[in-house]
Amino acid sequence: METPRTKGGPDAGQPASDEHSTLTLYVNGTERTLTLDHRTTLLDTLREHLGLTGAKKGCDHGQCGSCTVLVDGRRANSCLLLAVAQDGARVTTAEGLADGGRPHPLQEAFLERDALQCGYCTPGQICSAAGMITEAADGFPSHVTPPGAPAEGAPAALDADEVRERMSGNLCRCGAYPRIVEAILDVAL
Ligand code: FES
Ligand code: FES
Repeated sequence: METPRTKGGPDAGQPASDEHSTLTLYVNGTERTLTLDHRTTLLDTLREHLGLTGAKKGCDHGQCGSCTVLVDGRRANSCLLLAVAQDGARVTTAEGLADGGRPHPLQEAFLERDALQCGYCTPGQICSAAGMITEAADGFPSHVTPPGAPAEGAPAALDADEVRERMSGNLCRCGAYPRIVEAILDVAL
């Protein structure tokens, strides 16, 4: 027996996948209004719909960090976020970190320290580092922060162990980690 959905019901002729919504994102300071399938991730929105290919698709499962961007100032794995759920958010990608024609200090430090090899993970590493430095400045502790530190309202101190722990969600298949830590500390300290 046929169900109402396949014949004569209110959804007849409406494929389940034909579900779109219109949303607005503020990407690197520019308002962008898009109509997207509800299943579209923020990563695919940036790469496929807005042409911003800085954020990379590595695992597409939240495990490598190559898709890291800043959402309302906090780092996030854009492959795990549905774009429709970010309506109204401020999104910053590696392309938007520069101040006009001048690269972000982290971008300069990565270049000066030669903190990359193939470069695939680098935009995510730099966005993550920018978010991580802000998190520490805002007093968020990490797994290796000593108990009781930082004091209420004080920034969390960063050293190499803190940077390694806080950046542990960003994998580098080339193993450029030593120089990545040095580059981040150049900016953070
Ligand atoms: S592509 Fe998002 S965490 Fe790997
Ligand atoms: S520099 Fe190649 S993956 Fe990190």
